[in-house]
Amino acid sequence: MQESILKSDGLYHVYESKAEDGNVVALRGLHVDMKEGEAVAVVGPSGSGKSTLMKCLGGLMKPSAGSVTLAGKNMTRLTGQELVQLRQKTVSFIFQEGNLLPDLNARDNVAQPLRHQGVSSRKALKLADAMLERLGMAHRINALPAMLSGGEQQRVAIARALITQPRLILADEPTGALDPVTSREVLALFKDLHRNDGVSFLIVTHSKEVAAFANRSLELRDGRFVAEHGAEVDVEDLSKDRELIIDETGTVTLPPDLLVRIGGAGRYTVGNVASGYLSLQGEAVEGMGQMELATTCPACKHDYAGSDEQECPSCGSSRPMVEVKA
Ligand SMILES: Nc1ncnc2c1ncn2[C@@H]1O[C@H](COP(=O)(O)OP(=O)(O)OP(=O)(O)O)[C@@H](O)[C@H]1O
Ligand SMILES: [Mg+2]
Repeated sequence: MQESILKSDGLYHVYESKAEDGNVVALRGLHVDMKEGEAVAVVGPSGSGKSTLMKCLGGLMKPSAGSVTLAGKNMTRLTGQELVQLRQKTVSFIFQEGNLLPDLNARDNVAQPLRHQGVSSRKALKLADAMLERLGMAHRINALPAMLSGGEQQRVAIARALITQPRLILADEPTGALDPVTSREVLALFKDLHRNDGVSFLIVTHSKEVAAFANRSLELRDGRFVAEHGAEVDVEDLSKDRELIIDETGTVTLPPDLLVRIGGAGRYTVGNVASGYLSLQGEAVEGMGQMELATTCPACKHDYAGSDEQECPSCGSSRPMVEVKA
């Protein structure tokens, strides 16, 4: 069995709020186990908890409950200084944007993480120049972030993430703000690092290409992993290759298309149960109305106009089932 690079148990996160809409439970007991050298994608609708998960896993945010183990060390038990050191030598982050320090030029931005590790300024700058060259940014090393295009900024951010030779890269929609050409270049670089340097990746994405790079994808919905997908994942039709997850609390969440097919929300009697097998019988349940996918989005009132989409194309909310009116 390969060693885990990243593991979490019973991860919960609640954003506390005094406002009227109250607390938001963003993560509801997540278990993650990533082996060294794996590439895993996280897919799911807007607001499902993807960014919250990345921040908790990377030690940028303390989860409300649960533990996170990075490279064999339980992060939730480390002191501030120990946590910083473990993060510095193991993991790098790439966000969709805002990864760079605005007052430093490209090469200083890239050199900075090495300097923090105590590498001499001269050596750090030399390595930064080499990394920027690898990313096709050699001609812009003296530019401030504000003078660079979005794609160029992201390439500098990636150089900054790679300079410390991390074993794990946590990326939150890293190609989301890039044009298709730059996006493909970034992905090619990720593939190279994955195959040739054994770097592990956990990537939040909506992109088909990025998800296809991953060995498997985890589907997040309302703070729970509802399913896992293999390497051949189709992000536009997740129903094709979905494997449902029953978590350690016994919770299983049915994606809306499956809920439609079995007849909707209601009570089900348990039929056959055997190792690896469970059948549910809903027909005998009285009072269960006919269900269908909502025709308009409850969050933003987008009109689905007869489509069978399961995520609102306008605001990204999950599309719920509603009872068919008689
Ligand atoms: N700082 C915060 N305070 C309160 N609630 C928050 C905060 N950040 C996120 N949330 C809420 O937590 C839930 C999960 O948010 P998160 O940003 O993790 O979603 P996401 O899957 O990354 O969405 P997106 O695809 O839009 O980036 C959402 O309901 C969101 O409104
Ligand atoms: Mg997000």
